[in-house]
Amino acid sequence: MNVCVVGLGKLGAPLAAVLAAKGHEVIGIDVDAAAVAAITHGRAPVAEPGLPEMLQRARPRLTATTDWNRALAAADASFVIVPTPSEEGGGFSNRLLLDAVGHIGAALRGAGRYHVVNITSTVMPGSCDGPVRAALEAASGRKVGEGLGLCYNPEFIALGSVIRDMLRPDMILLGECDARAGDVIEAVYRTVTENAPPVQRMNLVNAETAKIALNAFVTMKISFANVIAEISEALPGGDADAVLTALGKDSRIGPKYLKGALGYGGPCFPRDNAAIASLTRRLGTQPDLALATDTVNRRQAGRLAVRVARHLPPGGAVAILGLAYKPHTPVVEESQGLMLAADLAARGVAVTAYDPLALANARAVLGKSVRYAAGLEEAVADAAVIVIATPDPAFRGLPALLERRGGHPIVFDCWRLLTGLPVPARIIGLGQGMPAAIEEALSPCGPAI
Ligand SMILES: NC(=O)c1ccc[n+]([C@@H]2O[C@H](COP(=O)([O-])OP(=O)(O)OC[C@H]3O[C@@H](n4cnc5c(N)ncnc54)[C@H](O)[C@@H]3O)[C@@H](O)[C@H]2O)c1
Repeated sequence: MNVCVVGLGKLGAPLAAVLAAKGHEVIGIDVDAAAVAAITHGRAPVAEPGLPEMLQRARPRLTATTDWNRALAAADASFVIVPTPSEEGGGFSNRLLLDAVGHIGAALRGAGRYHVVNITSTVMPGSCDGPVRAALEAASGRKVGEGLGLCYNPEFIALGSVIRDMLRPDMILLGECDARAGDVIEAVYRTVTENAPPVQRMNLVNAETAKIALNAFVTMKISFANVIAEISEALPGGDADAVLTALGKDSRIGPKYLKGALGYGGPCFPRDNAAIASLTRRLGTQPDLALATDTVNRRQAGRLAVRVARHLPPGGAVAILGLAYKPHTPVVEESQGLMLAADLAARGVAVTAYDPLALANARAVLGKSVRYAAGLEEAVADAAVIVIATPDPAFRGLPALLERRGGHPIVFDCWRLLTGLPVPARIIGLGQGMPAAIEEALSPCGPAI
Protein backbone atom coordinates (compact mmCIF):
# COMPACT_ATOMS: atom_id res chain seq x y z
CA MET A 1 0.00 0.00 0.00
CA ASN A 2 1.12 3.61 -0.49
CA VAL A 3 1.14 5.29 2.90
CA CYS A 4 1.89 8.86 3.96
CA VAL A 5 3.08 9.44 7.56
CA VAL A 6 2.44 13.00 8.75
CA GLY A 7 4.75 14.03 11.62
CA LEU A 8 8.14 12.30 11.90
CA GLY A 9 8.70 12.62 15.65
CA LYS A 10 9.04 10.13 18.50
CA LEU A 11 6.10 8.09 17.22
CA GLY A 12 5.88 9.02 13.53
CA ALA A 13 9.50 8.22 12.61
CA PRO A 14 9.36 4.68 14.05
CA LEU A 15 5.95 4.09 12.43
CA ALA A 16 7.20 5.24 9.02
CA ALA A 17 10.23 2.95 9.36
CA VAL A 18 8.17 -0.05 10.46
CA LEU A 19 5.59 0.39 7.68
CA ALA A 20 8.29 0.60 5.02
CA ALA A 21 10.34 -2.25 6.49
CA LYS A 22 7.20 -4.39 6.27
CA GLY A 23 6.84 -3.70 2.55
CA HIS A 24 4.68 -0.58 2.22
CA GLU A 25 5.73 2.36 0.05
CA VAL A 26 6.01 5.15 2.61
CA ILE A 27 6.49 8.88 2.29
CA GLY A 28 6.89 10.96 5.43
CA ILE A 29 6.07 14.63 5.76
CA ASP A 30 6.96 17.07 8.51
CA VAL A 31 7.09 20.84 8.93
CA ASP A 32 10.55 20.33 10.42
CA ALA A 33 13.03 20.18 7.53
CA ALA A 34 15.65 18.55 9.78
CA ALA A 35 13.36 15.56 10.46
CA VAL A 36 12.64 15.25 6.74
CA ALA A 37 16.36 15.41 5.88
CA ALA A 38 17.15 12.75 8.50
CA ILE A 39 14.56 10.31 7.13
CA THR A 40 15.60 11.06 3.55
CA HIS A 41 19.19 10.11 4.41
CA GLY A 42 18.24 7.06 6.46
CA ARG A 43 19.15 8.67 9.79
CA ALA A 44 16.96 8.55 12.91
CA PRO A 45 15.48 12.00 13.69
CA VAL A 46 14.79 10.89 17.29
CA ALA A 47 16.57 8.64 19.78
CA GLU A 48 14.76 5.30 19.98
CA PRO A 49 16.27 1.82 20.40
CA GLY A 50 16.11 -0.20 17.15
CA LEU A 51 15.12 2.79 14.99
CA PRO A 52 18.44 3.13 13.11
CA GLU A 53 18.35 -0.57 12.18
CA MET A 54 14.67 -0.38 11.16
CA LEU A 55 15.43 2.66 8.99
CA GLN A 56 18.11 0.69 7.17
CA ARG A 57 15.62 -2.10 6.43
CA ALA A 58 13.06 0.54 5.38
CA ARG A 59 15.39 2.50 3.12
CA PRO A 60 14.37 1.30 -0.33
CA ARG A 61 10.71 2.10 0.36
CA LEU A 62 10.92 5.16 2.63
CA THR A 63 11.34 8.76 1.62
CA ALA A 64 10.28 12.12 3.06
CA THR A 65 9.31 15.60 1.92
CA THR A 66 7.98 18.95 3.11
CA ASP A 67 5.70 19.17 0.05
CA TRP A 68 2.10 18.17 0.86
CA ASN A 69 1.09 17.58 -2.76
CA ARG A 70 4.03 15.25 -3.29
CA ALA A 71 3.35 13.44 -0.02
CA LEU A 72 -0.30 12.76 -0.86
CA ALA A 73 0.07 12.23 -4.62
CA ALA A 74 -0.04 8.42 -4.53
CA ALA A 75 -1.09 7.72 -0.93
CA ASP A 76 -3.96 5.31 -0.17
CA ALA A 77 -3.85 6.24 3.51
CA SER A 78 -2.25 8.90 5.68
CA PHE A 79 -1.29 8.31 9.32
CA VAL A 80 -1.35 11.66 11.17
CA ILE A 81 0.94 11.81 14.24
CA VAL A 82 1.49 15.45 15.07
CA PRO A 83 1.56 16.88 18.61
CA THR A 84 -1.70 17.62 20.42
CA PRO A 85 -0.33 19.59 23.39
CA SER A 86 -2.19 19.72 26.68
CA GLU A 87 -4.13 22.88 27.41
CA GLU A 88 -4.90 24.62 30.67
CA GLY A 89 -7.61 22.44 32.23
CA GLY A 90 -6.20 19.17 30.87
CA GLY A 91 -7.77 18.89 27.40
CA PHE A 92 -5.68 18.57 24.21
CA SER A 93 -5.22 21.24 21.56
CA ASN A 94 -6.18 20.18 18.02
CA ARG A 95 -4.46 23.22 16.48
CA LEU A 96 -1.53 21.41 14.81
CA LEU A 97 -3.72 18.43 13.94
CA LEU A 98 -6.26 20.63 12.16
CA ASP A 99 -3.43 22.37 10.33
CA ALA A 100 -2.11 19.01 9.09
CA VAL A 101 -5.59 17.72 8.18
CA GLY A 102 -6.24 20.96 6.28
CA HIS A 103 -3.08 20.37 4.21
CA ILE A 104 -4.04 16.75 3.57
CA GLY A 105 -7.55 17.76 2.52
CA ALA A 106 -6.24 20.45 0.17
CA ALA A 107 -3.82 17.97 -1.44
CA LEU A 108 -6.68 15.46 -1.92
CA ARG A 109 -9.03 18.05 -3.49
CA GLY A 110 -10.06 16.84 -6.90
CA ALA A 111 -8.35 13.45 -6.49
CA GLY A 112 -10.70 10.66 -7.55
CA ARG A 113 -8.89 7.90 -5.65
CA TYR A 114 -10.15 6.44 -2.32
CA HIS A 115 -8.04 7.68 0.64
CA VAL A 116 -8.26 7.09 4.38
CA VAL A 117 -7.06 9.75 6.83
CA ASN A 118 -6.02 7.86 9.97
CA ILE A 119 -5.55 10.03 13.07
CA THR A 120 -2.99 8.56 15.47
CA SER A 121 -2.38 11.65 17.64
CA THR A 122 -4.11 11.52 21.02
CA VAL A 123 -7.29 13.63 20.86
CA MET A 124 -10.21 14.51 23.14
CA PRO A 125 -13.38 12.46 22.51
CA GLY A 126 -15.53 14.16 19.90
CA SER A 127 -12.59 15.58 17.93
CA CYS A 128 -12.55 13.23 14.93
CA ASP A 129 -16.27 13.30 14.19
CA GLY A 130 -16.32 17.04 14.97
CA PRO A 131 -13.58 19.54 14.05
CA VAL A 132 -11.32 17.02 12.28
CA ARG A 133 -14.06 15.78 9.94
CA ALA A 134 -15.18 19.40 9.33
CA ALA A 135 -11.61 20.55 8.50
CA LEU A 136 -11.03 17.59 6.19
CA GLU A 137 -14.31 18.06 4.31
CA ALA A 138 -13.84 21.83 4.01
CA ALA A 139 -10.29 21.54 2.66
CA SER A 140 -10.91 18.61 0.33
CA GLY A 141 -14.34 19.61 -0.95
CA ARG A 142 -15.26 15.95 -0.40
CA LYS A 143 -17.50 14.15 2.10
CA VAL A 144 -16.20 11.62 4.61
CA GLY A 145 -17.84 8.31 3.66
CA GLU A 146 -17.94 9.19 -0.03
CA GLY A 147 -14.55 8.20 -1.43
CA LEU A 148 -12.85 9.56 1.67
CA GLY A 149 -12.36 7.60 4.91
CA LEU A 150 -11.59 8.82 8.43
CA CYS A 151 -10.25 6.62 11.25
CA TYR A 152 -8.89 7.14 14.77
CA ASN A 153 -6.14 4.68 15.59
CA PRO A 154 -3.83 5.53 18.52
CA GLU A 155 -0.67 3.55 19.20
CA PHE A 156 -0.11 2.03 22.66
CA ILE A 157 3.66 2.30 22.78
CA ALA A 158 6.18 3.22 25.43
CA LEU A 159 9.21 5.30 24.53
CA GLY A 160 12.26 3.06 24.65
CA SER A 161 10.33 0.10 23.23
CA VAL A 162 8.34 1.81 20.44
CA ILE A 163 9.45 -0.56 17.67
CA ARG A 164 8.77 -3.71 19.68
CA ASP A 165 5.42 -2.33 20.85
CA MET A 166 4.42 -1.56 17.25
CA LEU A 167 5.35 -5.03 16.05
CA ARG A 168 3.75 -6.87 18.98
CA PRO A 169 0.88 -4.81 20.40
CA ASP A 170 -1.68 -6.23 22.86
CA MET A 171 -4.40 -4.98 20.54
CA ILE A 172 -5.15 -2.56 17.75
CA LEU A 173 -7.70 0.10 18.68
CA LEU A 174 -9.53 1.27 15.59
CA GLY A 175 -12.26 3.89 15.42
CA GLU A 176 -13.80 4.16 11.96
CA CYS A 177 -16.24 6.38 10.11
CA ASP A 178 -17.40 3.26 8.24
CA ALA A 179 -16.32 -0.34 7.58
CA ARG A 180 -14.55 0.46 4.30
CA ALA A 181 -12.16 2.87 6.02
CA GLY A 182 -11.58 0.48 8.93
CA ASP A 183 -10.84 -2.40 6.54
CA VAL A 184 -8.01 -0.39 4.94
CA ILE A 185 -6.33 0.39 8.27
CA GLU A 186 -6.84 -3.13 9.63
CA ALA A 187 -5.24 -4.52 6.45
CA VAL A 188 -2.17 -2.34 7.07
CA TYR A 189 -1.80 -3.68 10.62
CA ARG A 190 -2.22 -7.30 9.50
CA THR A 191 0.95 -6.86 7.42
CA VAL A 192 2.90 -5.02 10.13
CA THR A 193 2.20 -6.85 13.39
CA GLU A 194 3.94 -10.11 14.23
CA ASN A 195 1.59 -11.44 16.92
CA ALA A 196 -1.87 -11.36 15.25
CA PRO A 197 -3.30 -8.93 17.84
CA PRO A 198 -7.07 -8.54 18.28
CA VAL A 199 -8.41 -5.50 16.41
CA GLN A 200 -11.03 -3.63 18.43
CA ARG A 201 -13.18 -1.76 15.90
CA MET A 202 -15.77 0.80 16.94
CA ASN A 203 -17.00 4.28 16.13
CA LEU A 204 -14.69 7.27 16.37
CA VAL A 205 -15.78 8.65 19.74
CA ASN A 206 -15.54 5.29 21.51
CA ALA A 207 -11.99 4.77 20.24
CA GLU A 208 -11.06 8.28 21.38
CA THR A 209 -12.49 7.55 24.84
CA ALA A 210 -10.85 4.09 25.00
CA LYS A 211 -7.39 5.56 24.32
CA ILE A 212 -7.37 7.97 27.26
CA ALA A 213 -9.41 5.61 29.47
CA LEU A 214 -6.80 2.88 29.05
CA ASN A 215 -3.96 5.12 30.18
CA ALA A 216 -6.09 6.55 33.00
CA PHE A 217 -6.77 3.01 34.22
CA VAL A 218 -3.06 2.17 34.25
CA THR A 219 -2.23 5.37 36.16
CA MET A 220 -4.95 4.52 38.67
CA LYS A 221 -3.35 1.10 39.14
CA ILE A 222 0.08 2.68 39.69
CA SER A 223 -1.28 5.12 42.26
CA PHE A 224 -3.17 2.29 43.96
CA ALA A 225 0.09 0.32 44.27
CA ASN A 226 1.77 3.40 45.72
CA VAL A 227 -0.98 3.79 48.31
CA ILE A 228 -0.35 0.18 49.34
CA ALA A 229 3.36 1.07 49.58
CA GLU A 230 2.53 4.03 51.83
CA ILE A 231 0.40 1.78 54.06
CA SER A 232 3.08 -0.94 54.16
CA GLU A 233 5.80 1.52 55.10
CA ALA A 234 3.73 2.58 58.11
CA LEU A 235 3.07 -1.01 59.23
CA PRO A 236 5.80 -2.76 61.27
CA GLY A 237 6.75 -5.79 59.15
CA GLY A 238 4.81 -4.40 56.19
CA ASP A 239 5.99 -5.37 52.71
CA ALA A 240 4.20 -3.93 49.67
CA ASP A 241 5.93 -6.44 47.38
CA ALA A 242 4.36 -9.37 49.24
CA VAL A 243 0.93 -7.71 49.23
CA LEU A 244 0.99 -6.59 45.60
CA THR A 245 2.48 -9.83 44.27
CA ALA A 246 -0.48 -11.64 45.82
CA LEU A 247 -2.92 -9.15 44.29
CA GLY A 248 -1.29 -9.57 40.90
CA LYS A 249 -1.98 -13.32 40.93
CA ASP A 250 -5.71 -12.60 40.81
CA SER A 251 -6.74 -12.81 37.17
CA ARG A 252 -9.11 -9.87 37.67
CA ILE A 253 -6.12 -7.67 38.54
CA GLY A 254 -2.92 -8.99 36.90
CA PRO A 255 0.68 -8.17 37.89
CA LYS A 256 1.61 -5.35 35.49
CA TYR A 257 2.12 -1.81 36.84
CA LEU A 258 1.48 -3.09 40.34
CA LYS A 259 4.65 -2.15 42.18
CA GLY A 260 4.98 0.24 45.08
CA ALA A 261 7.72 2.41 43.62
CA LEU A 262 8.03 5.96 42.35
CA GLY A 263 5.08 7.46 40.46
CA TYR A 264 4.36 7.61 36.76
CA GLY A 265 5.66 10.29 34.38
CA GLY A 266 6.37 10.82 30.70
CA PRO A 267 4.49 12.44 27.84
CA CYS A 268 1.33 10.27 28.02
CA PHE A 269 0.24 8.93 31.43
CA PRO A 270 -0.03 12.22 33.36
CA ARG A 271 -1.72 14.09 30.54
CA ASP A 272 -4.15 11.32 29.58
CA ASN A 273 -5.26 11.09 33.20
CA ALA A 274 -5.69 14.89 33.31
CA ALA A 275 -7.67 14.63 30.06
CA ILE A 276 -10.16 12.27 31.69
CA ALA A 277 -10.65 14.83 34.48
CA SER A 278 -11.10 17.57 31.88
CA LEU A 279 -13.59 15.46 29.94
CA THR A 280 -15.72 14.79 33.02
CA ARG A 281 -15.88 18.51 33.73
CA ARG A 282 -16.94 19.23 30.16
CA LEU A 283 -19.63 16.55 30.34
CA GLY A 284 -20.87 17.46 33.83
CA THR A 285 -19.78 14.13 35.35
CA GLN A 286 -17.32 13.76 38.26
CA PRO A 287 -13.48 14.02 37.99
CA ASP A 288 -12.79 12.61 41.49
CA LEU A 289 -11.17 9.31 40.48
CA ALA A 290 -8.70 10.91 38.04
CA LEU A 291 -7.94 13.68 40.54
CA ALA A 292 -7.20 11.18 43.33
CA THR A 293 -4.85 9.26 41.00
CA ASP A 294 -3.01 12.49 40.24
CA THR A 295 -2.86 13.58 43.90
CA VAL A 296 -1.26 10.29 44.96
CA ASN A 297 1.20 10.49 42.07
CA ARG A 298 2.26 14.04 42.78
CA ARG A 299 3.28 13.32 46.38
CA GLN A 300 5.59 10.36 45.63
CA ALA A 301 8.80 12.25 44.77
CA GLY A 302 8.36 14.59 47.75
CA ARG A 303 7.65 11.67 50.07
CA LEU A 304 10.88 10.01 48.99
CA ALA A 305 12.84 13.27 49.31
CA VAL A 306 11.82 13.46 52.99
CA ARG A 307 13.03 9.91 53.61
CA VAL A 308 16.30 10.48 51.74
CA ALA A 309 17.02 13.69 53.63
CA ARG A 310 16.33 11.87 56.88
CA HIS A 311 19.01 9.28 56.17
CA LEU A 312 21.62 11.77 55.07
CA PRO A 313 24.50 12.62 57.45
CA PRO A 314 25.18 16.35 57.83
CA GLY A 315 26.85 17.61 54.64
CA GLY A 316 26.36 14.23 52.95
CA ALA A 317 25.74 14.02 49.19
CA VAL A 318 23.00 12.18 47.33
CA ALA A 319 23.40 10.40 43.98
CA ILE A 320 20.27 10.05 41.86
CA LEU A 321 20.48 7.38 39.19
CA GLY A 322 17.80 7.75 36.52
CA LEU A 323 16.59 11.16 35.31
CA ALA A 324 14.48 10.11 32.33
CA TYR A 325 10.89 9.17 33.10
CA LYS A 326 11.81 5.54 32.36
CA PRO A 327 14.84 3.58 31.13
CA HIS A 328 16.07 3.62 27.49
CA THR A 329 14.79 7.10 26.62
CA PRO A 330 16.18 10.64 26.91
CA VAL A 331 12.70 12.05 27.69
CA VAL A 332 12.48 13.77 31.10
CA GLU A 333 8.89 15.06 30.95
CA GLU A 334 7.23 14.60 34.39
CA SER A 335 10.17 12.41 35.44
CA GLN A 336 10.13 11.35 39.09
CA GLY A 337 13.94 11.22 39.32
CA LEU A 338 14.10 14.79 38.07
CA MET A 339 11.46 15.91 40.58
CA LEU A 340 13.36 14.17 43.38
CA ALA A 341 16.60 15.91 42.35
CA ALA A 342 14.86 19.31 42.26
CA ASP A 343 13.21 18.73 45.64
CA LEU A 344 16.46 17.69 47.35
CA ALA A 345 18.44 20.52 45.74
CA ALA A 346 15.81 22.99 46.98
CA ARG A 347 16.41 21.63 50.50
CA GLY A 348 20.09 22.51 50.15
CA VAL A 349 21.23 18.91 49.65
CA ALA A 350 24.27 18.31 47.39
CA VAL A 351 22.92 16.16 44.53
CA THR A 352 24.87 14.36 41.83
CA ALA A 353 22.65 13.17 38.98
CA TYR A 354 23.25 10.53 36.33
CA ASP A 355 21.32 8.97 33.46
CA PRO A 356 22.71 7.01 30.50
CA LEU A 357 20.62 8.96 27.93
CA ALA A 358 18.88 11.92 29.55
CA LEU A 359 21.70 14.10 30.95
CA ALA A 360 21.33 16.89 28.36
CA ASN A 361 17.56 17.11 28.79
CA ALA A 362 17.90 16.98 32.58
CA ARG A 363 20.48 19.76 32.52
CA ALA A 364 18.05 21.94 30.54
CA VAL A 365 15.54 21.63 33.41
CA LEU A 366 17.70 21.45 36.53
CA GLY A 367 20.45 23.84 35.39
CA LYS A 368 23.19 24.36 37.95
CA SER A 369 21.11 23.22 40.94
CA VAL A 370 22.75 19.76 40.81
CA ARG A 371 26.04 18.27 39.66
CA TYR A 372 26.03 15.90 36.66
CA ALA A 373 28.11 12.75 36.42
CA ALA A 374 29.32 11.33 33.12
CA GLY A 375 29.11 7.74 34.38
CA LEU A 376 27.80 5.54 37.15
CA GLU A 377 31.13 5.32 38.97
CA GLU A 378 31.54 9.10 39.09
CA ALA A 379 27.91 9.51 40.21
CA VAL A 380 28.27 7.37 43.31
CA ALA A 381 31.90 8.23 44.14
CA ASP A 382 31.18 10.33 47.24
CA ALA A 383 27.48 9.70 47.82
CA ALA A 384 26.24 8.87 51.30
CA VAL A 385 22.81 8.04 49.91
CA ILE A 386 22.12 6.63 46.44
CA VAL A 387 18.66 6.57 44.89
CA ILE A 388 17.87 4.24 41.99
CA ALA A 389 15.00 6.18 40.44
CA THR A 390 14.40 4.11 37.27
CA PRO A 391 14.68 0.34 36.75
CA ASP A 392 17.49 0.70 34.22
CA PRO A 393 19.39 -2.62 34.00
CA ALA A 394 22.63 -0.60 33.74
CA PHE A 395 22.27 0.22 37.44
CA ARG A 396 22.72 -3.46 38.29
CA GLY A 397 26.44 -2.69 37.98
CA LEU A 398 26.23 -0.69 41.20
CA PRO A 399 27.29 -3.44 43.67
CA ALA A 400 30.64 -4.00 41.91
CA LEU A 401 31.33 -0.25 41.89
CA LEU A 402 30.51 0.05 45.58
CA GLU A 403 32.79 -2.88 46.33
CA ARG A 404 35.69 -0.96 44.72
CA ARG A 405 34.67 2.34 46.25
CA GLY A 406 34.38 1.16 49.86
CA GLY A 407 32.29 2.80 52.56
CA HIS A 408 28.81 1.73 53.38
CA PRO A 409 26.22 4.00 51.74
CA ILE A 410 22.47 3.75 51.92
CA VAL A 411 20.78 2.76 48.66
CA PHE A 412 17.10 3.54 48.07
CA ASP A 413 16.32 0.80 45.56
CA CYS A 414 12.98 2.18 44.39
CA TRP A 415 12.41 -0.68 41.89
CA ARG A 416 14.11 -3.52 43.87
CA LEU A 417 16.59 -3.76 41.03
CA LEU A 418 19.35 -5.13 43.27
CA THR A 419 17.26 -7.84 44.93
CA GLY A 420 19.30 -11.03 45.24
CA LEU A 421 22.63 -9.30 44.55
CA PRO A 422 25.27 -9.00 47.30
CA VAL A 423 25.47 -5.24 47.83
CA PRO A 424 27.99 -3.60 50.18
CA ALA A 425 25.41 -1.04 51.28
CA ARG A 426 22.27 -0.78 53.36
CA ILE A 427 19.34 -1.23 50.99
CA ILE A 428 16.02 0.46 51.57
CA GLY A 429 13.25 -0.65 49.25
CA LEU A 430 10.08 1.42 48.98
CA GLY A 431 7.01 -0.05 50.60
CA GLN A 432 8.98 -1.85 53.31
CA GLY A 433 7.67 -1.26 56.81
CA MET A 434 10.01 -0.33 59.58
CA PRO A 435 8.88 0.75 63.04
CA ALA A 436 9.34 4.52 63.32
CA ALA A 437 11.63 4.11 66.32
CA ILE A 438 14.01 1.91 64.31
CA GLU A 439 14.01 4.22 61.30
CA GLU A 440 14.69 7.14 63.64
CA ALA A 441 17.55 5.26 65.29
CA LEU A 442 19.06 4.38 61.91
CA SER A 443 18.79 7.96 60.78
CA PRO A 444 21.99 9.93 61.32
CA CYS A 445 20.18 13.27 61.53
CA GLY A 446 16.96 12.50 63.39
CA PRO A 447 13.58 13.70 62.21
CA ALA A 448 12.96 14.64 58.59
CA ILE A 449 14.03 18.09 57.43
N1 LIG B 1 5.52 9.93 22.43
C1 LIG B 1 4.70 9.04 22.99
O1 LIG B 1 5.08 8.26 23.87
C2 LIG B 1 3.27 8.95 22.52
C3 LIG B 1 2.53 7.80 22.84
C4 LIG B 1 1.20 7.71 22.44
C5 LIG B 1 0.63 8.78 21.76
N2 LIG B 1 1.36 9.88 21.45
C6 LIG B 1 0.72 10.96 20.72
O2 LIG B 1 1.25 11.04 19.41
C7 LIG B 1 1.25 12.41 19.00
C8 LIG B 1 2.64 12.79 18.55
O3 LIG B 1 3.52 12.57 19.63
P1 LIG B 1 5.11 12.49 19.43
O4 LIG B 1 5.65 12.14 20.75
O5 LIG B 1 5.46 11.66 18.24
O6 LIG B 1 5.41 14.03 19.08
P2 LIG B 1 6.78 14.67 18.60
O7 LIG B 1 6.76 16.07 19.08
O8 LIG B 1 7.94 13.80 18.97
O9 LIG B 1 6.68 14.64 16.99
C9 LIG B 1 5.69 15.32 16.29
C10 LIG B 1 6.22 15.70 14.91
O10 LIG B 1 5.16 16.37 14.20
C11 LIG B 1 5.70 17.47 13.48
N3 LIG B 1 4.63 18.44 13.24
C12 LIG B 1 4.13 19.40 14.05
N4 LIG B 1 3.13 20.07 13.46
C13 LIG B 1 3.00 19.54 12.22
C14 LIG B 1 2.15 19.81 11.13
N5 LIG B 1 1.20 20.73 11.22
N6 LIG B 1 2.30 19.09 10.00
C15 LIG B 1 3.27 18.15 9.90
N7 LIG B 1 4.10 17.82 10.92
C16 LIG B 1 3.97 18.51 12.06
C17 LIG B 1 6.79 17.99 14.39
O11 LIG B 1 7.72 18.77 13.67
C18 LIG B 1 7.38 16.68 14.95
O12 LIG B 1 8.45 16.19 14.15
C19 LIG B 1 0.71 13.23 20.17
O13 LIG B 1 -0.67 13.41 20.03
C20 LIG B 1 0.97 12.30 21.34
O14 LIG B 1 0.09 12.54 22.41
C21 LIG B 1 2.68 9.98 21.80
